Amino acid sequence: MREIDQSFSVSFRYPVVFTRGSLDPTNLVLRDALLRAGTGPHRVLAIVDAGALAATPDLPDRLSAYAAAHPDVLEPIPAPHVLPGGETCKEDLSWLPEIHEQIAARGICRHSFVFAIGGGSVVDAAGYAAALAHRGVRLVRFPTTVLAQNDAGIGVKNAVNFQNRKNFVGTFVPPFAVVNDFDFLETLDPRDLRSGIAEAVKVALIKDEAFFDQLHTSREALGRFDPGPMEDMIVRCAELHLEHIRTSGDPFELGSARPLDFGHWAGHKLEELSGYDLRHGEAVAIGIALDSLYCAQTGLMSDVARERIFETLESIGFVLTHAALAALDIEAALDDFRVHLGGDLCICLLEGIGRGVDVGSIDLAEMQRCVDLLRSRG
Ligand SMILES: NC(=O)c1ccc[n+]([C@@H]2O[C@H](COP(=O)([O-])OP(=O)(O)OC[C@H]3O[C@@H](n4cnc5c(N)ncnc54)[C@H](O)[C@@H]3O)[C@@H](O)[C@H]2O)c1
Ligand SMILES: [Zn+2]
Repeated sequence: MREIDQSFSVSFRYPVVFTRGSLDPTNLVLRDALLRAGTGPHRVLAIVDAGALAATPDLPDRLSAYAAAHPDVLEPIPAPHVLPGGETCKEDLSWLPEIHEQIAARGICRHSFVFAIGGGSVVDAAGYAAALAHRGVRLVRFPTTVLAQNDAGIGVKNAVNFQNRKNFVGTFVPPFAVVNDFDFLETLDPRDLRSGIAEAVKVALIKDEAFFDQLHTSREALGRFDPGPMEDMIVRCAELHLEHIRTSGDPFELGSARPLDFGHWAGHKLEELSGYDLRHGEAVAIGIALDSLYCAQTGLMSDVARERIFETLESIGFVLTHAALAALDIEAALDDFRVHLGGDLCICLLEGIGRGVDVGSIDLAEMQRCVDLLRSRG
């Protein structure tokens, strides 16, 4: 036998910048980010969320004007490719060959850029397309929803759905840069403003009691989407997600533990069962409520803490029940989650606020009682 032990490591570094007016030619955030790739001019394929474009119809003009103002860094940017907004673009991939055709036709290479401008669904889908072309074209994300700015658009994953299974097909690829422009949030509908707050509650519950206290204190203001508390919530939530990716020792999720997926085993299944009528964050809020209830019912966490979690979520405006709960097959949903993670079942629960804990089994009868309790709130 002969064996060669191959071992190497690759390090990644990318800026996640919070700004306003990112495409104003005087704003240098994008310019500085691109200059990390050396002097240009760089070639860009822009992929834009139809919902964000409808809300900001001059987006293509702004991209062109930015490129025209910085010709040393950017080649002229042709009209963006528009993807349907929301989960539709992750469900129906008929657009994927068109993107790859454009990448080929326009001579986009591994040193060029894909700009993904949109909500979590579009940045997931566009990131997936970019990761496949030439085995990876540099990606700059411009997340345009709360959830994309504080979670989906800042990390190292992309995915699309397959046969109604959430995120079944995807890759782990860190972006080149993330430009979080708060101006985009001004055109969001209330459901999309609220949806992303669920991820902040999630990460606070598993990692940071002080952040949960902040969310609890500002719950009414968050329910009104007051810009100050919203921006503080987005930045801290993003910071905690990034810190986890950077320091957990498992950025590409090779192990079975997935603490950032607290509330998600049920959340993902409820999204599917609702035919994506539930937004991701709305489903996650119900998933958080369900798992918090289970923690309190099994004595892992106090009922006082559970009550505080429900009060926070409900004051923000989340509805902690949904008709899809009736169709939730707990055992099958947990098994789907286990298979998706790989390895043994590993579910993140709470010992208290700010204290996530991994468990390897769930009492199905008790969890069913918790589902029934949530259903009775409807
Ligand atoms: N890759 C990851 O790590 C990760 C993490 C969390 C969530 N996700 C994924 O993110 C997705 C959810 O993303 P989301 O909550 O951002 O919703 P979304 O992307 O589904 O967008 C919701 C709606 O908002 C519209 N929209 C987007 N920007 C807008 C703007 N500025 N103004 C007006 N309308 C706008 C969209 O067109 C869409 O109709 C899910 O598919 C989820 O699985 C991925
Ligand atoms: Zn999520």
